[in-house]
Amino acid sequence: MAQYSPDAFSLPQRLLHWLMFLLIGFNLIFSDGMEHWNRLVRHGEPVTPEDVSAANIHAYVGIAILCLAGLRLLLRLTQGAPAAPPQEPALLRLAAKLAHGAFYLLFFAMPLSGIAAYYFGVSQAGFLHGGPLKALFWALIAAHVAAVAVHQFYWKTAVLSRMTKGV
Ligand code: HEM
Ligand code: HEM
Repeated sequence: MAQYSPDAFSLPQRLLHWLMFLLIGFNLIFSDGMEHWNRLVRHGEPVTPEDVSAANIHAYVGIAILCLAGLRLLLRLTQGAPAAPPQEPALLRLAAKLAHGAFYLLFFAMPLSGIAAYYFGVSQAGFLHGGPLKALFWALIAAHVAAVAVHQFYWKTAVLSRMTKGV
């Protein structure tokens, strides 16, 4: 993304990574309230205030993710990211760039498609949100965690500490 290559991720960048990890994990795993609301509305069944409250938790967490994504993108563009470890083959370095770029796209596409479905009743956006975008998110997270493990244990590059201690 940014050309400038600092020595480490800044503290705000690291805090945002782990805060967003928790919030995204929450919305990916605990989406039952929103799914229930969606089923009721689709079938024209009555929706109670409790149903709306449960759905709103998903919506508000998702909107928080959208706001944090804006801040994270701004930091990434102004502060950059440290260069990939030299042990990493060029092709995988490119794969990491693409995967990180796709994460940033999802940080915006996921909440915006949810907003379109929930507040504006755009059902195709709901399909994208709960179908292909959700699947892509899970696939990227699995690949991301696997890649961190390969760095850590195979190339022994201690990459995890770049996102924890910042060195
Ligand atoms: C990064 C943030 C978000 C994540 C990770 C996320 C994740 C999910 C997941 C896992 C589902 C269940 C899909 C399924 O298995 O059927 C879902 C459904 C849904 N979410 Fe989100 N969500 C996010 C943000 C939002 C926001 C901000 C809103 C609205 C304000 C929203 C509205 C909805 C709606 C309406 C559905 C039902 C869609 C359908 O199946 O037609 N989501 N979301
Ligand atoms: C919702 C789950 C996650 C998302 C969306 C995510 C997203 C990202 C993104 C976009 C980056 C690129 C740096 C940036 O611009 O912020 C990154 C870096 C990183 N992530 Fe994650 N991440 C997730 C979970 C995890 C987990 C569970 C681990 C630990 C096993 C982890 C470890 C790392 C590390 C070590 C880096 C630094 C890579 C480097 O030095 O270039 N991430 N993550």
